Amino acid sequence: MAATIIDGKAIASAIRSELAEQVAELAQKGLRPGLAVILVGEDPASVSYVTAKEKACAEIGIASFETRLPQDVPQQKLLDVINAANMDPDVHGILVQLPLPRHIDERAVIRTIHPDKDVDGFTPVNLGRMLLEEPCFLPCTPHGIIELLVRSGVPTSGAHAVVVGRSNIVGKPLANLLIRKSINATLTVCHTGTRDLASHVRSADIVVACAGRPGLVTADMIKPGACVIDVGVNRVPDPSKKQGYRLCGDVDFEAAAQVAGWITPVPGGVGPMTITMLLANTIEACRRLAGSRVS
Ligand code: GUN
Repeated sequence: MAATIIDGKAIASAIRSELAEQVAELAQKGLRPGLAVILVGEDPASVSYVTAKEKACAEIGIASFETRLPQDVPQQKLLDVINAANMDPDVHGILVQLPLPRHIDERAVIRTIHPDKDVDGFTPVNLGRMLLEEPCFLPCTPHGIIELLVRSGVPTSGAHAVVVGRSNIVGKPLANLLIRKSINATLTVCHTGTRDLASHVRSADIVVACAGRPGLVTADMIKPGACVIDVGVNRVPDPSKKQGYRLCGDVDFEAAAQVAGWITPVPGGVGPMTITMLLANTIEACRRLAGSRVS
């Protein structure tokens, strides 16, 4: 039997309707959530992500303030832009699109974002709060994946979750969220040092592929009935397409869908949820920064 396709677009759209209502309520109190979007360089994937984020903001009434900096911008100039956003009362959230050019110290950049405006949840302060389960901004992709699992009715308590990838923005924080009591999964994290990836994935009730390698997870690795979440967004050359490429995930989707119980498509799975969680965090930042007047 073929898998249930988890429609991230539809789930994201339902959440965005609720968020639009929250923005309308804030507007009645004279508040408008604002997101500073900072993009360095012209990497086509980053440009398209940033454009999608700004469009999503506009659709639900969040203001976005874009700053585009050239690829060779001095690091200090970028830090100045972030500091100005830290001070700007119209800005409640700050997003610096990653990756950054190699001459820029990503860690220094992330640390410059004020934790109260860190709607990506990437600062050490927010990641520490996440670990301790204190109020914080959760990183958007991991949070979006948890929402997909919960809203799709995938059983997580006692399930064996295998995360394939250990990045700071997806694999590591997701691993942490999966072992929270509220989710209650048993966890394995696989990475480039893992000896036998297939044997680990085969025992998974939930597989999350977030390694950025097309075709890494194949159908023969999937336990029948398992839930497969594909975070990969890989551009593979395809002359039959107008843009010359097509998007594919880290999972061999067509074959895996014949074995899995649930599966997310690429595009239309995790991606729309990442953006939705960013919107939710920006609204929350606005509420918090406005203080008790609106809580
Ligand atoms: N690059 C890839 N994913 C993300 C994300 O969620 N936020 C930012 N800022 N950059 C990214």
